[in-house]
Amino acid sequence: MRSFKAAILAGTFAIMAATNVFAADVKIGFIVKQPEEPWFQDEWKFAEQAGKEKGFTVVKIGAEDGEKVQSAIDNLGAQGVQGFIICTPDVKLGPGIVAKAEANGLKLMTVDDRLVDASGNALEDVAHMGISATKIGETVGQAIAEEIKKRGWDMKQVGAIRVSYDSLPTAVDRVEGAIAALKAAGFPAENIYDAPQAKTDTEAALNASTTVLNKHADVKYWIAFGLNDEAVLGAVRASESVGIPASNFIGVGIGGADSAINEFKKADATGFFGTVIISPKRHGYETALNMYEWVANSKEPEKLILTSGALALRGDYEKVRKDLGIE
Ligand code: GLA
Repeated sequence: MRSFKAAILAGTFAIMAATNVFAADVKIGFIVKQPEEPWFQDEWKFAEQAGKEKGFTVVKIGAEDGEKVQSAIDNLGAQGVQGFIICTPDVKLGPGIVAKAEANGLKLMTVDDRLVDASGNALEDVAHMGISATKIGETVGQAIAEEIKKRGWDMKQVGAIRVSYDSLPTAVDRVEGAIAALKAAGFPAENIYDAPQAKTDTEAALNASTTVLNKHADVKYWIAFGLNDEAVLGAVRASESVGIPASNFIGVGIGGADSAINEFKKADATGFFGTVIISPKRHGYETALNMYEWVANSKEPEKLILTSGALALRGDYEKVRKDLGIE
């Protein structure tokens, strides 16, 4: 009897040892597609804050293409990481990322950009945190439409730059949300010009927007929207380079990190009229914490969390940030 009890006890301890990971032993990977972008810097910062509070380690890796993603995951596996969060440079890498994670025995969650399969359908089994893209895009479009009316422009004489990155579903949802709101406000669809960016950074957006502006040099008033602040800043820089005054340009971005704030801080207003502030704290801190809970306490994360945004303009961004509890 005694030895039977002892066997059960030993078994129980063995199970506990296998499932109960101590915080200090938890290592979480956090891979991002564009490490130089302030949004991703902030995500990393907040993931590390969660790590500090709970006592786990965050391994940060930047991976700008598919090959780097593959080696980053192997690298995490070799370092004894138990799980990772990724914002992939290409959502179509989805099945490959899932396979690589499994091969390395790593738990997987995604942030910002949701993985898709070969047919373009979201990999719904992979836990994801993203923004409410359509709704946030609508907020962008409404803000622009309101400002057009305030400035007394005739919508028929306004050109719109749709800075696009159509291989990324969240980018499509954001710009289409903006377009829906603009159309609802009476903006003519034929005045919307596509400016496809080769990469999701400011330089690529500047190049794409310059082409549109040169092609329609007769248009006096312009508006711009896109995936993020970088996209809209590229359009604003393009407008400046062709001599469009700030008072003839309304650009509204998405993000609210340093790229936008530094623009608002400029002594003279630019064509960057506003941004919808989204939360790198939720995307960095919360995803890291959720991964930690999964690794340490076997608590599975929610499959889909969509976060919201708040419009901020040059004149009120400090107040909006304060209300959101930023700084
Ligand atoms: C995408 C964009 C980023 C940021 C995030 C927010 O990844 O490329 O700039 O907007 O979405 O989820």
